[in-house]
Amino acid sequence: TTEIHPNVNRVIFTETQIKEKVAELAQQITRDYKDSKNLVLIGILKGSFVFMSDLVRGIHLPNTNVSLEFMSISSYGAETSSSGIIRIIMDLRTSIEGKDVLIIEDIIDSGLTLKHLIELLQSRKPKSLESAILLRKKEGLKTEVPVKYIGFDIPMVFIIGYGLDFAENYRELPYLGELKEECYKK
Ligand code: PRP
Ligand code: MN
Ligand code: MG
Repeated sequence: TTEIHPNVNRVIFTETQIKEKVAELAQQITRDYKDSKNLVLIGILKGSFVFMSDLVRGIHLPNTNVSLEFMSISSYGAETSSSGIIRIIMDLRTSIEGKDVLIIEDIIDSGLTLKHLIELLQSRKPKSLESAILLRKKEGLKTEVPVKYIGFDIPMVFIIGYGLDFAENYRELPYLGELKEECYKK
């Protein structure tokens, strides 16, 4: 059994549960993109790095040029809720014009980050543009944003681990857990 971090209230999804879900998503993606010529997977740093690395290893597309890109976008800073202000810290290195593009995100809360990102990437004329999101806080959504692949819907708790942080900490935890309230409320 995994040791639980003392600042974690409870484990929401175990390593095994995450593994199964990510494998499922990778299978769906493999099936849907089998006729694609060029698939660009865009990981949104930093939160998506663990999900992305597990997900890509479950995708098997021998007839497709699969490439990985990263963008760094920040909306939260050290706060626990989205400011709605999105900063592009690092942009793509290559053109996505005419390619199938899949955005990889760890979580969608207000949806503002993803909505902004979809608008930005759409203007660069990809062949298709979809997104794969591990977690969705349904009650947090402030805008309508289409998501093709979704892992889990979660309640409005502060969730950390598996790439997700609070003030840049806890990303290394191998499970998804709820941060103890006393750690972020003063
Ligand atoms: C988090 C998360 C998403 C975004 C979701 O990133 O990884 O990118 O916020 O929030 P929203 O739907 O309310 O816009 P964050 O800005 O915390 O940066 P990080 O990935 O580096 O932790
Ligand atoms: Mn993020
Ligand atoms: Mg964050």
